[in-house]
Amino acid sequence: MATRHFLTLLDFSSDELSYLIRRAITIKNGLKTHGPTYTPFSNRTLAMIFEKSSTRTRVSFETAMAQFGGHALFLSSRDTQLGRGEPIEDTARVLSEMVDAVMIRTFSHQGLEAFAAASEVPVINALTDDYHPCQLLADVMTWTELRGQVRGKTAVWIGDGNNMCHSWINAARQFDFQLRVCCPEGYEPRQDILDAAGERVSILRDPQQAAQDADLITTDVWASMGQEEEQAKREADFSGFQVSEAMLDRAAKDVLFLHCLPAHRGEEISATLLDDPRAVVWQEAGNRLHAQKALLEFLLLGRVEH
Ligand code: CP
Ligand code: NVA
Repeated sequence: MATRHFLTLLDFSSDELSYLIRRAITIKNGLKTHGPTYTPFSNRTLAMIFEKSSTRTRVSFETAMAQFGGHALFLSSRDTQLGRGEPIEDTARVLSEMVDAVMIRTFSHQGLEAFAAASEVPVINALTDDYHPCQLLADVMTWTELRGQVRGKTAVWIGDGNNMCHSWINAARQFDFQLRVCCPEGYEPRQDILDAAGERVSILRDPQQAAQDADLITTDVWASMGQEEEQAKREADFSGFQVSEAMLDRAAKDVLFLHCLPAHRGEEISATLLDDPRAVVWQEAGNRLHAQKALLEFLLLGRVEH
């Protein structure tokens, strides 16, 4: 059978993704009740290639592997031959000889696809310039844990049409909810990704209007990793797009606020937003661990229904 990879949410069926969310919640409950006693990955290894910075992604994957009885290797492009020009396909072939799965955080999504095409073991996208699907597993898990079934609900993305926005669009397709993307002119998500989502996703310009009656509001930094030089221009262009408590007041009474983090208080969110009980970002961050355990388990062992 062909090796399965997780490069975007579209690599899995809706049914498989729903299974992962259910399974992640079960794994989380098991950890709370019994501690890290479920160790299906004895002697299994995950290579983690990082070409960009990370706190949550590195710690959650490394902890997931350790708690499952396996091992994770942190590989910075600065310290490996990748940083000295060894072709990514060669690196993929070599790692396939030794490890059980590879996780990559990099710039080019095409580079990630080239790596996966040459890999004989599952490859996981841990963020590219275009997508961040692992974050969406944790986000949909959090939404589901707190509010039940997400199908038919309305989420609102405020801000840049970036990698996180693209993955929210794919999530709207796969989990069948409505998504309003509210961004300034010139910061829209990619047209092909939007077109493929059809009527589930709409583009709006007024954040206050977009927030109206929303079930969930989410945002992200205005300048992503690699866009640091655009910071000042983006701060000006995104003026009026800050998510605040007043904006949440316009949404549904039980609205939730998510942010993949790291957040810039006083920029894309008000200084105090993360202290508001409607903001559930710490639970969201913690769910990276459980959602990725479910993902790793599925890629290495297949479905485990209890
Ligand atoms: N949300 C997220 O991916 O965080 P890190 O950049 O810290 O991994
Ligand atoms: N859009 C952000 C997400 C960080 C987790 C970035 O790419 O830097």
